[in-house]
Amino acid sequence: MVTSKHPKESLTILTDMVLPGETNALNNLFGGELLARMDRACSIAAQRHSRRIVVTASVNHVAFNKAVPVGSVVTLEAKVSRAFKSSMEIYVDVWIEDRETGQRTKVNEGIYTFVAVDRTGMPVKVPQIVPETELEQERFDGALRRKQLSLLLSGKMKPEQATELKALFEK
Ligand SMILES: CC(C)(COP(=O)(O)OP(=O)(O)OC[C@H]1O[C@@H](n2cnc3c(N)ncnc32)[C@H](O)[C@@H]1OP(=O)(O)O)[C@@H](O)C(=O)NCCC(=O)NCCS
Repeated sequence: MVTSKHPKESLTILTDMVLPGETNALNNLFGGELLARMDRACSIAAQRHSRRIVVTASVNHVAFNKAVPVGSVVTLEAKVSRAFKSSMEIYVDVWIEDRETGQRTKVNEGIYTFVAVDRTGMPVKVPQIVPETELEQERFDGALRRKQLSLLLSGKMKPEQATELKALFEK
């Protein structure tokens, strides 16, 4: 098995439109529809990184910062930001583009955890991540803290085990 990979090797870009059936009462993209698109993009990125079957373990954070109007062209860009033993953190950035100028605006982002599994659903090892850009390094550095927070919130980790979180408050 390859032991390490760069985030760009998992880059997944999904571009699609917002149709009327996918909106809320204000004619903006429905949150659940965006979550599904994010989940799909992150799943493909996790699969590209691990080359295994992957399952969503948790949605760690989603920021719905700006509404996305019907008719918008929406692009999701997902990349693995860090890999642990069997789990991977995937960041997905969401952009819309101006119809006339093509200028892109970042509207939302999400952070997902996927786990690579075998055919029986048992977790399997994945390659590690070697960040290349400044942003990739920043996301890599914060990933262990977010993993611990997610495990803590789901009751899978005791507060005293969350060393990275404790360090944050002791600074
Ligand atoms: C995700 C799943 C495989 C984890 O299984 P598990 O029995 O908890 O296995 P483990 O305890 O060995 O955890 C496996 C990895 O997932 C991580 N993990 C588990 N739950 C997590 C959570 N809530 N947040 C972050 N990471 C989590 C563990 O830390 C571990 O990471 P590591 O191997 O990189 O150190 C299992 O819970 C599952 O199959 N869930 C259903 C997935 C699914 O169907 N998703 C679609 C929902 S519709």
